[in-house]
Amino acid sequence: ASGGIAPITGPAEAHGARPSIAGKGMAALERWVEEIAALTQPARIHWVDGSRAENEALLKEQVDEGKLIKLNPEWRPGSYLARSHPSDVARTEGRTFIASELEIDAGPTNNWADPVEMRETMHRVFAGSMRGRTMYVVPFSMGPVGGPLSHIGVQVTDSAYAVASIGIMTRVGTDVVREIADGAHWVKTVHSVGAPLAQGEQDVAWPCNDEKYIVHFPDTLEVWSYGSGYGGNAILAKKCFALRIASVIGRDEGWLAEHMLLIRVVSPEGKAYHLAAAFPSACGKTNLAMLRPTIPGWRVETLGDDIAWLRPGQDGRLWAINPEAGFFGVAPGTGESTNVTAVETLWGNTIFTNVALRPDGDVWWEGLTDDPPAELTDWEGNPWTPASGRPAAHPNSRFTVSAAQCPQIASDWDAPEGVPLDAILFGGRRATNVPLVVEATDWAHGVFIGSNISSERTAAAEGTVGELRRDPFAMLPFCGYNMADYFGHWLAVGQRLRFDRAPRIFQVNWFRKGTDGRFLWPGFGDNSRVIDWIIRRVEGKVPAVDSPIGRLPRAEDLNLDGIDVPPADLDELFAVDPELWLSETDLTEQFYSTFEGRVPAALYAELAALRYRLKRA
Ligand code: GTP
Ligand code: MN
Ligand code: MN
Repeated sequence: ASGGIAPITGPAEAHGARPSIAGKGMAALERWVEEIAALTQPARIHWVDGSRAENEALLKEQVDEGKLIKLNPEWRPGSYLARSHPSDVARTEGRTFIASELEIDAGPTNNWADPVEMRETMHRVFAGSMRGRTMYVVPFSMGPVGGPLSHIGVQVTDSAYAVASIGIMTRVGTDVVREIADGAHWVKTVHSVGAPLAQGEQDVAWPCNDEKYIVHFPDTLEVWSYGSGYGGNAILAKKCFALRIASVIGRDEGWLAEHMLLIRVVSPEGKAYHLAAAFPSACGKTNLAMLRPTIPGWRVETLGDDIAWLRPGQDGRLWAINPEAGFFGVAPGTGESTNVTAVETLWGNTIFTNVALRPDGDVWWEGLTDDPPAELTDWEGNPWTPASGRPAAHPNSRFTVSAAQCPQIASDWDAPEGVPLDAILFGGRRATNVPLVVEATDWAHGVFIGSNISSERTAAAEGTVGELRRDPFAMLPFCGYNMADYFGHWLAVGQRLRFDRAPRIFQVNWFRKGTDGRFLWPGFGDNSRVIDWIIRRVEGKVPAVDSPIGRLPRAEDLNLDGIDVPPADLDELFAVDPELWLSETDLTEQFYSTFEGRVPAALYAELAALRYRLKRA
């Protein structure tokens, strides 16, 4: 070991030794690990091998240290509850930086930082940050190891909770090290909770630091995350790598890293179709990914619920994989009536974070059951009753569970080549204006729709147009480069597809409300009715009605058998008000203008054409 690294001490362990693998890439990996250790000064270095025995040992250690609560195996075998520090409960977008050489490459939607200064800051905060702790070296693959669409990385972290989570969310193991040794490119990710321990100092249940940095260096494909133990900030393979860094790799290599769920829909005739859908956070990706159709004969197989990587194939189709291996889903609102598939997925082997604990050693959160238990321990560890007047689980409490445990996971969900897409859906939470479903006329129009995704703040007054948050492609917090360039990249990818084999693009909106504030569409399992129409459009089996904003279903083509949507509601679900839409186009123009001339001309042409159609309507 080089100077400054504490010797590897402690009991001789069955796990944690550096794998003895030879290869030209191995030296670079070892050198990097030594460099980070020299900077952060951990007490021990543990090379994670991804084995079940190692995982169990790490979990047990965290239980012994009071960092995890083991749930009652009778109700929830192999499962644990973590309670975060009350200040460390969500992604911290304000502390998330893109440190590209040029500020313009981060664009107006990201926090830019000068990479030279930021690197100095990182060296300052990480210096000695792992003292007294174990530094874990976690080699991981996004996508099946060695797959043509897969990418590998290594995370060093001083959080055993992060190690356990990465073990569920990605493919961790020594086979990744073998790829690195063989010379494969890998992404470097560094994570510290920023809470060094002095000699003999007692650790806390959830170490973290008030000062937080989630930093991406797109030019060198690195992530440095400091001060937070929370999922999106600590599982660097997920939002940091698989979206922000991967979007940059995709830009340079000709593919797309997207905030999308991925499903296979099987029709009553037994024909399979593949759909990807981008909705902003908390707008129903996990729900749609696990859909149980209410129309007879249809089946949905889950492929992914949050991230998809899309690449044009030799055949002119767009191929997609889910690079993850697990689900990191929002717990509240997940129940028998909304997402029974998720509830069944969580039968065991799950890490829960910030949910409530039942007296019998099981977990609970708002929406799991209609009625809350009489008493609970809330997410902060305090006694709770239904009269407490506050939620028992944190609104952003989460479950972390292996995808393989999902009862409707596709049997080939980790096929390395992925699946060819038939349709792409864009959606948001819109109480007004946006119809239940509308089809784009072509790829460029679809990209225009994607660039305009927006969601109403849920606190918006009922029946009035709420404040819109623009969230293009549902990627606002996740695009690692200038969003206007990203729009251009979407257009360029479309040109590499065969026009008759490119996925069709649709906009959907499950959230339209009546003037009385009630959802007009039953949603959830009944969204299968919209998918049924989408697939009949893909098959060319039904005509559509042209409208200024795109193609709408004919009333008779939407399968409404067995549900009761009054004709007035149906009219309202598909109403297109040219005046309101014209004011939307003003918002679009305003938004585009923030990119100072970088938005592709093709999208301005779409905007002009839309205005022309609306004025004529
Ligand atoms: P992230 O995992 O944070 O990226 O978000 P997500 O897109 O996976 O969101 P999630 O599925 O957790 O969003 C759930 C929210 O959407 C809950 O409030 C659900 O009740 C609501 N939701 C999902 N599908 C529907 C639907 O069809 N209709 C209505 N009204 N609400 C829905
Ligand atoms: Mn989700
Ligand atoms: Mn997400």
